[in-house]
Amino acid sequence: MSDRFYVTTPIYYVNDVPHIGHAYTTVIADAVARWHRLLDEDVFFLTGTDEHGLKVQRSAEERGLTPQQHADATSARFREAWALLDISNDDFIRTTEDRHAVAVTALMQAAYDNGHIYKDTYEGLYCVSCEAYYQPEDLVDGLCPIHKRPVETLREENWFFRLSAFEDRLLAWYETGDAVLPEGKRNEAVGIVRQGLRDISISRTSISWGIPVPWDPDHVFYVWYDALINYATAVGYGSDRERFDAWWPTVHHVIGKDILRFHTVYWPAVLMAAGEAPPRQVQVHGFLLIGGEKMSKTALNQIFPADLVEDFGVDGFRYHFLRENPFGPDGDFSYEAMVARYNGDLANNLGNLLSRVATVVGKKCGGVAPAPRADSPLAPVVESAYEATAEGWARFAPSVALEATWRIIREANALLEEAEPWKAEPGPEVDAVLGDALEALRIVAVLAAPAVPHATTEIWRRLGLAGTPGEQRLPEAARWGQYPGGATIDTGAPLFPRIKA
Ligand code: ME8
Ligand code: MG
Repeated sequence: MSDRFYVTTPIYYVNDVPHIGHAYTTVIADAVARWHRLLDEDVFFLTGTDEHGLKVQRSAEERGLTPQQHADATSARFREAWALLDISNDDFIRTTEDRHAVAVTALMQAAYDNGHIYKDTYEGLYCVSCEAYYQPEDLVDGLCPIHKRPVETLREENWFFRLSAFEDRLLAWYETGDAVLPEGKRNEAVGIVRQGLRDISISRTSISWGIPVPWDPDHVFYVWYDALINYATAVGYGSDRERFDAWWPTVHHVIGKDILRFHTVYWPAVLMAAGEAPPRQVQVHGFLLIGGEKMSKTALNQIFPADLVEDFGVDGFRYHFLRENPFGPDGDFSYEAMVARYNGDLANNLGNLLSRVATVVGKKCGGVAPAPRADSPLAPVVESAYEATAEGWARFAPSVALEATWRIIREANALLEEAEPWKAEPGPEVDAVLGDALEALRIVAVLAAPAVPHATTEIWRRLGLAGTPGEQRLPEAARWGQYPGGATIDTGAPLFPRIKA
């Protein structure tokens, strides 16, 4: 039986339409899922929408819709965006689905039965945008530290989760090594727990748009305790124990740093309270900034995927967000940098390698592909680039992985420039160099398939290979020397037409 790999994105709030921040996380999770499929693992890739809570209830009211109508409309926008970006999710979960209520009810009931939930009165400062209470000292100039908006004083009789009882178990979980990555983000989680955890209110009576607390149906669950459980719902928690045990806890959550506390503190603790294992790993990335500012509806600085896809294509979009910023720190988005990266890496390096090889094979080999040399100087380049690529994807570092894959492209271009087969007489030397370059392209098509699925499929076709690069299996497909030669090479139009700045 092959290894199981379960990867998730956050489920996005339906009060906002998908922008490039959401796409950033989703494209990373997608590329990682595709990489693990190449490794022949049994992959389950989940995304979806978070549809309960005060924030959604209020945006529905503002639009004159019921919360469900509002959720239906916006959830569809997310599915459209992911279809546009060729996201390969295996499931799309919505927290208003019946299967989710079943799982939330079962998991919270288990935590309750285990004695970790009790009733108390709570008064606190609440940020509706975060759907979270803050302590006075957390505020910045009296405002929510994330949204820079006023908080409201809420007073409620609530059910509380005994989060404070889980400090030691959480610290032990962080110490397992790679539960929370990158390291800076793990240190943040450790810091939150070391400061001391307060018990947290997990129910609301002030709103009705949520999942009822099974033992006290006047309350609905606090939206975060509803939302986090989606990851368990989708693999059968509460309905199919065998399926859940097959996938849990092999889960890797990819999230932005804004929701670190919920995923690295609240979520593992409530799982432990219910008698389940914490997630295998939480991978936390930084924010994509626009001119140094976080994107937001209120700042009117949101950029939508379709606008960039129009200029750069789906692959150009995916490649940029995977390659440009290292996973972890914040990074500024700029259109100029996107043009430069597209023209450099995609048009000049990859696109140019393909078109010059195809053109020269046309001119010097009658369009029929030569085979590679067993002792090509590119063979050791590919071997080390494959190792580095695999290492990069394994630790959720797409920029590192793609940097390594692009080394093969640069070396193949350098080999061609040195040998100048376009100037030479047809013969074995020309054949050798072109065969090597074709083999490099074959391997690059497989290794880059998780990032640029369309272009790599087209390269595969032009090389006369059967099937698609995404159907190949690693590490076998990365072994040097498998390109058979003999196929008719299709020259075709430029894969990535240059974009004028
Ligand atoms: O927090 N840069 O949903 P959300 C990078 N429903 N990533 C960004 C980003 C940016 N500027 N803006 C958004 C919620 N993201 C909850 C999650 S999960 C059980 C519930 C991405 O719609 C990033 O992944 O506010 C961030 O964590 C997420 O969108 C927040 O999405
Ligand atoms: Mg948010």
